[in-house]
Amino acid sequence: MPFYHSLGRIPPKRHITFYKKDKKSLYREEHVSSLGFSGVYSNKYHIHMPTQVLKIKELPSKGTPLWENSPLQNHHFFTERKKSRGDFMTARSTYLKNVHCTISTAHVTQNTDDFFRNSYAHEVIFIHHGKGLFLSEYGKMAFEEGSQIVIPKGTIYQLKFKEFKNNKLLIVESDTAFDIPKHYRNDYGQLLESAPYCERDLQVPQFLKPQDKRSKFRLVLKAGERTFEHILNHHPFDVVGWDGYLYPYILNIKAFAPKVGKLHLPPPVHQVFKTEHFVYCTFVPRLFDFHPQAIPAPYFHSNIDSDEVIYYAEGNFMSRKGIEEGSITLHPAGITHGPQPGKTEESVGKKETYEYAIMIDTFSPLSLTLNAKETVDPKYPYSWLET
Ligand SMILES: [Fe+2]
Repeated sequence: MPFYHSLGRIPPKRHITFYKKDKKSLYREEHVSSLGFSGVYSNKYHIHMPTQVLKIKELPSKGTPLWENSPLQNHHFFTERKKSRGDFMTARSTYLKNVHCTISTAHVTQNTDDFFRNSYAHEVIFIHHGKGLFLSEYGKMAFEEGSQIVIPKGTIYQLKFKEFKNNKLLIVESDTAFDIPKHYRNDYGQLLESAPYCERDLQVPQFLKPQDKRSKFRLVLKAGERTFEHILNHHPFDVVGWDGYLYPYILNIKAFAPKVGKLHLPPPVHQVFKTEHFVYCTFVPRLFDFHPQAIPAPYFHSNIDSDEVIYYAEGNFMSRKGIEEGSITLHPAGITHGPQPGKTEESVGKKETYEYAIMIDTFSPLSLTLNAKETVDPKYPYSWLET
């Protein structure tokens, strides 16, 4: 998490009386902590007890069937060719997953008044297209194209879109937190001068007026493949104040200041976040390598400990052919990949590249779902043949 933040009214010490205007009834303190009680945490102060639930039921799960016996090969699939519909919760289509990581996209076609809580996973939502407001117990944040919304596990939130022309999201779920890499920070947690982004790039929640409403509110909880409905008897955004290090925030993909070198620099220079089981990197417009004989396109490589996923958002990806906006490639561990015929030569002498893409390198193999099978490019594994 980025740094200490505080909004609204909080008492001068933790775990002491904090009375409402009537000087008799208490605000309810909720401590949200990670890694037991050893990680980052926040303390929120609610008007109502946050545990009040009127009714609980499991919802019929959409689930995401796996592509059984999917071939071990380099894959490419077109997520734009499977237009989902629904709100920011129901429009999600999962393409890849393992026990630590789930990768989905969503074409959001409507808003909802329901609230969402991912109980088992932290999320990064990349706003490929769309703009609107992210609302949560911690406050509000405006999002736009390029926003990467980092949402801690258990956060109750809503995405409210302004319009419905072509909203598209990439959603990455992780069972461990999306952290800013340690090597980007000094001993005090401040982002180093050499880091590719700094505190000014991080958009934090702004105060949202607490809602003191008694009625029925629908909260949808995601627990892996299962989904539950909790009917609350009060509005969940009833927080009068909070403080701490655990809260959602936004880093726009365009804020990343890329590193360039004399010769080709490997993917770790593109890293944005780390989790315990995968890394999250971005490719952004940048100047190319400046050695007079440099080959800017990457060399052929086998990353024997990582499955490599790339989501292509915008521009011309310099080492790939046949890629469209919204394409995903999967280069599994232990299989060689690299520039397609002509792409290496094409890159020589080029001064810069214009591209936006997100790369997720997982340390355990990913399984493909039927959504991947349905949108797969059957020619891709053979696209390196020099004919
Ligand atoms: Fe690669």
